[in-house]
Amino acid sequence: MLKTFKQIGQALVRNARGVQTSSSALSDNLFVHRDSPEDNPDIPFEFDANNKKRAEALMAIYPEGHKRAALLPLLDLAQRQHGWLPLSAMHHVADILEIPRMRVYEVATFYTMYMRKPMGKYHLQVCTTTPCWLRNSDEIMNVIKSKLNIQVGETTPCKTFTLSEVECLGACVNAPMVQVNDDYYEDLTGKDMDEILEDLKAGRKPKAGPRSGRFACEPIGEPTSLKGEPTGPGFGVQSGL
Ligand code: FES
Repeated sequence: MLKTFKQIGQALVRNARGVQTSSSALSDNLFVHRDSPEDNPDIPFEFDANNKKRAEALMAIYPEGHKRAALLPLLDLAQRQHGWLPLSAMHHVADILEIPRMRVYEVATFYTMYMRKPMGKYHLQVCTTTPCWLRNSDEIMNVIKSKLNIQVGETTPCKTFTLSEVECLGACVNAPMVQVNDDYYEDLTGKDMDEILEDLKAGRKPKAGPRSGRFACEPIGEPTSLKGEPTGPGFGVQSGL
């Protein structure tokens, strides 16, 4: 059936909108700012006395004229002080670096380490990329969801836990793993995850690192390679050379 130009135009607009919004709709992060009672430009934000000193020390690392290079650590500092990164904190960082606010928005919405919405005291980041998934990250995710009664992107009503699903955190050899705030918990089973949550709920800090008994990422049990004496230089080279 022949379509009118108007119908074709409407179909194009519909499809274009679908492509544009697909990634944002699937993410648990906020990429578009909307004023809210807890996040609007009228809420005052300043670094406290200690962080002011830290900010000055960070800016002093960079030569005159290149202070903007301190943008990433200053945003991180603001986030650590506030618990997440509100609009007024971004404005404060723009002011002290003397750069346009848009430069700060661009950076803060590009990196997933900056949280643009209120977060729980503990940010649980579950890696579900292939190595962790093959080692049953589904079980880890299910334990968290059922124990805390939250879904990915949600925070518990008591504001203690926020759950995120993330891509590879670079600890695949210790899969499956979860990052809680600044710590990695590795070689996890569902039981381990349950214990970690119990400890955090009780105000205890569980020991970070592998839960399998490994010290780091060495083989479990016996070494499997590099077991003999080192062969020295020239090993395997033709005798005529
Ligand atoms: S795949 Fe999970 S840490 Fe790399």
